[in-house]
Amino acid sequence: MATTLAFDVYGTLIDTHGIAALLPPQLGPRALEFSRAWRDKQLEYSFRRGLMRQYESFAVCTGQALDHTCSQFGLRLDPAGRERLLAAYRSLPAFEDARPGLARAREAGFRLFAFSNGRAETVSSLLEQAGLRDFFLEVVSVDEVQSFKPDPAVYAHFLGRAGVPGSAAWMVSSNPFDVLGALAAGLHAAWVRRSPEAPFDPWGPEPTLTVASLEDLAVQIHA
Ligand code: LAC
Repeated sequence: MATTLAFDVYGTLIDTHGIAALLPPQLGPRALEFSRAWRDKQLEYSFRRGLMRQYESFAVCTGQALDHTCSQFGLRLDPAGRERLLAAYRSLPAFEDARPGLARAREAGFRLFAFSNGRAETVSSLLEQAGLRDFFLEVVSVDEVQSFKPDPAVYAHFLGRAGVPGSAAWMVSSNPFDVLGALAAGLHAAWVRRSPEAPFDPWGPEPTLTVASLEDLAVQIHA
């Protein structure tokens, strides 16, 4: 069977900071800072819920993280404004290298899956709107095991869904915690490091492969 590639979604295929342009104008030059704080809090909530075994969907983590970030930045959102931002989060844009990178990977014969913290329907519709859904055999979600990355159980679940051992699968992610999580669960892992300044976690294990763009991925892995 051809090698399996599991693509992370938020932050790897889809640009979560695309939301910055849609934030209320009163944030002014702090829009990107707000968007980063929101993203960091969203991930923190997913990690904490995973550890506490108090699962709620990633969309709930995203909404609660938005509320926290609004308090932090002194931004008051009415319910309609809150819903507008969360709706925008459900149709964020793709990174420019996503489409050509996925096209190359598919042409090279890999089996492509999306594997995300987001629920399968949410991620499918997000990928659809970004014009990427058709590249994937399936969208696999952590929601099916009610935990979050980097719980080893979610990577084991992915391998079960894809029907392959870790030695035949690669996680492709821009998120270092996802790369380390996948390596610890026995998968290979490619780190998509779009910015040469992005640091990796100094825990010891290194990504199996580091690429600057998704377009460089397919030529560096053997199908
Ligand atoms: C995802 C997270 C890591 O898409 O953002 O799984």
